[in-house]
Amino acid sequence: SLYADSELASSAVATQIADLIRARAAEGKPCVLGLATGSSPTRVYEELVRLHQEEGLSFQNVISFNLDEYYPMAPDSLQSYVRFMHEYLFDHVDIRPENVHIPDGTVPADQIAEFCRRYEEQIQEAGGIDLQLLGIGRTGHIGFNEPGSGPASRTRLITLDHVTRTDAASDFYGEENVPRRAMTMGVGTILEARQIVLLAWGEGKAAVVKRMIEGDVTDSVPATYLQRHPAVQVVLDEAAGAEL
Ligand code: GLP
Repeated sequence: SLYADSELASSAVATQIADLIRARAAEGKPCVLGLATGSSPTRVYEELVRLHQEEGLSFQNVISFNLDEYYPMAPDSLQSYVRFMHEYLFDHVDIRPENVHIPDGTVPADQIAEFCRRYEEQIQEAGGIDLQLLGIGRTGHIGFNEPGSGPASRTRLITLDHVTRTDAASDFYGEENVPRRAMTMGVGTILEARQIVLLAWGEGKAAVVKRMIEGDVTDSVPATYLQRHPAVQVVLDEAAGAEL
């Protein structure tokens, strides 16, 4: 769907997520959300906080799994995705702390494989992801699945692309401070979500949005694997959709 601006689009997405949370609660079931960081989803989270505060939307039945985290990364660091999620969402709603899952950037190197295996297992134990929110990087990454990531990839440690580190440089006060690696759900993990909502705003995303939607499905642009998923919504503002 194409919206005039990202504010309108974000409130429509927040309403959709709120409706899903309420519908699952009415059935007495958990709502399992796959969550993203970056600038794209911030307004969705702000709107969900508003719906909690003003309309009584409860997150008691929500179980969340975040896509990714830099590695290494201390959770209280300015750039940590743990901190990001708490600032934008978790600190302002009634989600149960034990229902929040974010890849742990402090896991010792020799325990990463086991941590990632367990992360996948926890998603399964929760019943699988009902709705996965995604942004897209200029390299065509979803989560931190950089070019070269295939459709069978699972949660793992990856090496960040140069372009991604350049894009993150301002957050880290210089590219030399951006971690070289990250933990991310795999393309395969993401594709198992029952429903996917990808957000992209601004002219900087127009070229990669076109490749994602109109290009051949390839490891070189991991977001193209979304073409094979039966329930993906791509939510764009006018600038991000300008090349379609
Ligand atoms: C980071 C995140 C991705 C996100 C991407 C786009 O690399 N790990 O999950 O989709 O940035 O970020 P933004 O939304 O700020 O454009």
